[in-house]
Amino acid sequence: MKKRKAPHLVESIPGPNAEKYLAQNEAFVSGSLPHVYPLVVKKAQGCIVEDVDGNRYLDFASGIAVCSTGHCHPKVVEAIKSQTEKLIHICGADFYDPQYISLAERLAKLAPGDSPKKVFLGNSGAEAVEAALKLARYHTGRSHAIAFFGAFHGRTLGAVSLTASKPIYHKGFGPLLPSVTHAPYGYCYRCPYNLTHPECDLACVDYIENTLFAHTIDPTEVAAIFVEPIQGEGGYIVPPAGWLAKIRALCDRYGIMLVDDEVQAGIGRTGKMFAAEHWNVEPDIICSAKALGSGMPISAMIAKEEVMTWPPGAHGSTYGGNPVACAAAHATLDVIEEEGLTENATRVGGELVRKLQDLQKSSQLIGDVRGLGLMIGVELVTDTISKQRAKKEVEKVIQESFQRGLITLPCGPNTIRFAPPLNITVDEMNVAYDIFAEALAYVESEMSEALRDLTSSLHDVAVSPDQPPGTDRRSLNYRIRPSGNTGDLRSFWVRGQETLRTAG
Ligand SMILES: Cc1ncc(COP(=O)(O)O)c(C=O)c1O
Repeated sequence: MKKRKAPHLVESIPGPNAEKYLAQNEAFVSGSLPHVYPLVVKKAQGCIVEDVDGNRYLDFASGIAVCSTGHCHPKVVEAIKSQTEKLIHICGADFYDPQYISLAERLAKLAPGDSPKKVFLGNSGAEAVEAALKLARYHTGRSHAIAFFGAFHGRTLGAVSLTASKPIYHKGFGPLLPSVTHAPYGYCYRCPYNLTHPECDLACVDYIENTLFAHTIDPTEVAAIFVEPIQGEGGYIVPPAGWLAKIRALCDRYGIMLVDDEVQAGIGRTGKMFAAEHWNVEPDIICSAKALGSGMPISAMIAKEEVMTWPPGAHGSTYGGNPVACAAAHATLDVIEEEGLTENATRVGGELVRKLQDLQKSSQLIGDVRGLGLMIGVELVTDTISKQRAKKEVEKVIQESFQRGLITLPCGPNTIRFAPPLNITVDEMNVAYDIFAEALAYVESEMSEALRDLTSSLHDVAVSPDQPPGTDRRSLNYRIRPSGNTGDLRSFWVRGQETLRTAG
């Protein structure tokens, strides 16, 4: 039998070498970095990451959806090497750089829709978002912006004002940009109106017109609506059919710029080069980054030519569109096209979603499985009816997966994201799935044990079936009342005949 390269765990995690770096990090690195687990990386190739102690992991995070072509793809490495021998920096803002110009043309032609486009290159996702915000304001002469609850658009002051995924991103940094308002995202699993698609007629979009425009914002003051076509950091949420198109129509009615933030979803991840293509929407402005450079820092703000009306000097960047980063981006796009990576994302991602949905049928914790291509989220809940968020369990499953050699990341309050390189094989996906399923089962069995301990400590319990409307086929609801205690009524879900877990 062929021996697998990963996972291959030879040392404790963190191992002795990692421990040294962790101590050094503690002493010298900004405490603002969240660090999900103690992975100290030495090198990586394809979808395999090796730590400083020789442990090898399967990478289903790709440096947060960045290493689209896998780590150190030979063609990307070669493009970077050969460019560094010719020109490392010139400043595309003041001089003409063929790499910058040709990448701009390529992206302008790849972007969805028929309108001619122009491109500004930056170094990070946040820079693309800042550029979009400034351009939208400049072009429309309006100041207001609308974004969505759960959104993540970056951490610079303009971008973070649009961000609304966690309070930590705002706390202590105010006042933020004024005139930014948030609206509910198209999050059907937790519909803010308790409605069901398509009968809802996309009431969450109507909120912008019927509530915001009716009561607080005059639409003629709105420069842009910023939208992630699939919400990333907020929970890998795929909006329902028609949602993005309805926002497009709303923007058209009021002369508002539709800014499509594809920093996480773009460049092949969802099975299309740009995620907006899934819904046949042409945005006015697109923000791209992450996957574009396979790990080299580069971002792009792609706008309709008719929108890119700002004059020379209005915006620029010293490093943005650096020749080496542009060479990496060209090589990345070549690899995606030549190796059929959008098709691979659709095929392998579709298979992973099917397996996860199958796992959901027997899982106590999986509330929702969603995704397009290789942008897949698994939302965990402690109870499928109340949908109570299983935050601690998400953390545990991620840690247990990591200890078994699989790298994943959380997103939103209670979702696990799968964002592997776009060229993973079915075999690698199957291995990752098995590890995840094992980690999940381990956490579920821990929960069951804890609940068994709890119930055995409740002597003389009175159990009565209590099956509310909407109870799914996997669950039966029982109320268990500790005898003699009328106030402390606990509700447990009983799965099958043996698994108990709390819903409270
Ligand atoms: C949708 C989206 N926009 C913007 C950003 C910010 O990108 P960066 O961290 O490169 O500034 C991110 C980063 O995760 C993102 O997911």
